[in-house]
Amino acid sequence: MKKIIAANWKNNGSKKFVKDYFEYFFKNVDSNNEIIIFPPDLYISQVNDYRRKKNFMLGSQNINYVSDDETFTSGHSSDMFIDNGCSYTLVGHSEVRGHDITYSEAAKSLWASNDLQVIFCVGESADTKKDGNTQNVISKQLEDLCDKRSYPKVIPKKVIVAYEPVWAIGTGNIPKIDDISFIHKFIKTYVSENHPFLKEKDIMVLYGGSVNSINASEILNAQYVDGVLIGGASLDSKEFTKICNLKI
Ligand code: 13P
Repeated sequence: MKKIIAANWKNNGSKKFVKDYFEYFFKNVDSNNEIIIFPPDLYISQVNDYRRKKNFMLGSQNINYVSDDETFTSGHSSDMFIDNGCSYTLVGHSEVRGHDITYSEAAKSLWASNDLQVIFCVGESADTKKDGNTQNVISKQLEDLCDKRSYPKVIPKKVIVAYEPVWAIGTGNIPKIDDISFIHKFIKTYVSENHPFLKEKDIMVLYGGSVNSINASEILNAQYVDGVLIGGASLDSKEFTKICNLKI
């Protein structure tokens, strides 16, 4: 079955890195999956040039919550990302939420266009998990996604949520596979019951947090997992290509 395999390069890369990465990737990729790469903004245009074989999609790591305000210094509009080949954007990644933007502000500008599919990130902290509050926190995070006011311009055709437990990001620790399935099912049910426009069949849930070429197959084969969002392991072209080439 076709899954989403997404690479979040975070704050990594250089022109040479991009060149070397795609040299290996194009020679070795043989995948039926939907591959998405999220480079830092400054390299989106260069990565877009490497899309000549069109065997992957491109995304931005974050859109500014005032991204469609043309008078805002340092903004990047959703149209600019689309113009540079992006068809996806991450919103509310745990490394972004709570810093320069609030979660809610990001969410309000979500669906600027159906040409830029949002991947809405949620996940609990270690303390939340310890206190047994994971489902409460995730429902709260999903509220903006399910708020009709988040869609001033377009009605979305689908929703993609990335479940990324904060305690699993960059730590080498992952939840038990059954726990991943349980939370993914919880997210699908919550969104289908609360979203103003979408039904369960329109909702995809990706898992993110310490995915690598050793654990990817088991995670991707788990129930209710529609794909993975990979940080550290996606920076190694060989490792990422191996995951892309998995036949699920
Ligand atoms: P790691 O794969 O490095 O844990 O990062 C996950 C992540 O934050 C992807 O968005």
